[in-house]
Amino acid sequence: MKKDSNKNIAMYSGRAISDESPVCKKAIELLKLKSGDVLLDAGCGAGNLLVLAERKKVKVDLHGIDISETNIRIAKGRLKKTKLKVGNITKLPYKSKKFNKIAIIGVLLYLTEEELEKAVEETNRVSSQNAVIVIRNNQPLNYIGNRIKLILSMLKGKKITFTDRYYHPNKIISLFEKKGFKLTRFEITAEKKIIDCNPILRKIFGSAWYIFRKGD
Ligand SMILES: C[S@@+](CC[C@H](N)C(=O)[O-])C[C@H]1O[C@@H](n2cnc3c(N)ncnc32)[C@H](O)[C@@H]1O
Repeated sequence: MKKDSNKNIAMYSGRAISDESPVCKKAIELLKLKSGDVLLDAGCGAGNLLVLAERKKVKVDLHGIDISETNIRIAKGRLKKTKLKVGNITKLPYKSKKFNKIAIIGVLLYLTEEELEKAVEETNRVSSQNAVIVIRNNQPLNYIGNRIKLILSMLKGKKITFTDRYYHPNKIISLFEKKGFKLTRFEITAEKKIIDCNPILRKIFGSAWYIFRKGD
């Protein structure tokens, strides 16, 4: 894979490109796609979620955006029906109220506080009334786990910048609620059964899932 100048892709380059990502499968379930939906996968990476969305038998207008040119190039090679763009979640190149479904999976941890606020503002701007936003973000040790993987990569000689950070769920919920979104579902889960079955481990090693609905 060609090296991307953007540090966020460096953070992501170790992650698998998967047609069967359990995380994205869960996101697809939560999105409950139906014909006529207009979906944006913000921070779509190499298109793991959009691959699953394209397989659905419903007619959905699919869009994906990612800051990494490399990821968008890979996604273009994997996707047939999705419109893809290189761009920043903090300045979405779409008209207002365009989307009724938005997925933000594993992206918020790469944003600074200022960027996080802008991302919420932009998500609000491009959401139609009653739009559903599905978000997944890391819990604290899930994030430390990333760092350990990155340190190991660095020890193998890869040059990597640390940019990820942990946002408490209350912070994310309050930013969305301030924009008039209602939290309709919140849970902390872990993909690994051994972690998921223990509430304390789940809370620190798992991921937080949010579903927001844009109010009237
Ligand atoms: C952990 S990956 C997740 C990718 C995808 N959502 C998935 O679940 O497979 C995080 C993605 O967020 C992208 N990203 C980071 N900061 C971004 C930003 N400001 N705007 C858009 N995408 C961003 C990265 O390039 C990377 O592809």
